[in-house]
Amino acid sequence: MRKTIALTLLAAMAVAPLQAQAPVREADEVIRYRQSLYATIGWNFGPIAAMLKGERAWNAAELKRRSIAVAFAAVQLDEAFAPGSDAVEKTDALPEIWEEPQAFADALREFQGASNQLRIASAGAAEEPIRAAFERTRKACKGCHERFRAD
Ligand code: HEC
Repeated sequence: MRKTIALTLLAAMAVAPLQAQAPVREADEVIRYRQSLYATIGWNFGPIAAMLKGERAWNAAELKRRSIAVAFAAVQLDEAFAPGSDAVEKTDALPEIWEEPQAFADALREFQGASNQLRIASAGAAEEPIRAAFERTRKACKGCHERFRAD
């Protein structure tokens, strides 16, 4: 019996390092990561918007690639709002993000859903679903910025 416990403990110890928590990040590191994700999102969403407005030539391959980049960055945002990463001198993120976590989580989920819809639509040739998903995504950006970002 005792041997079994000892072996179980040993096994648990062997596994423990793999399950160790990710190290706690410094606030500036989180802020830098967050801003780089939004920079990636803005970088790719701008040309998408220009294409949909007819200000830039329609290019299906580019649309697909850029919408993948936006949707990919959108899901990384889950890790980009750690508590304490609201140092006001460096960030435009408003304190409401941490004061109203549910409302912010809803805004983030909506954006992730919308950008994923855009990614999926952009893999196809039909223009209407792309336009609908673009509109939903654009509204998600605007809605979140109005409520949670300083300008
Ligand atoms: C869920 C909320 C939310 C959504 C959705 C959102 N943003 Fe933002 N955005 C923010 C916040 C908060 C900041 C400020 C980040 C900081 O300074 O730490 C920001 C910053 C930015 C920046 C500045 C990045 C930099 O260089 O510092 C750009 C560009 C941007 N967003 C574009 C977009 C675009 C385009 C979309 C939609 C495709 C979008 N955002 C969707 C909340 C959001």
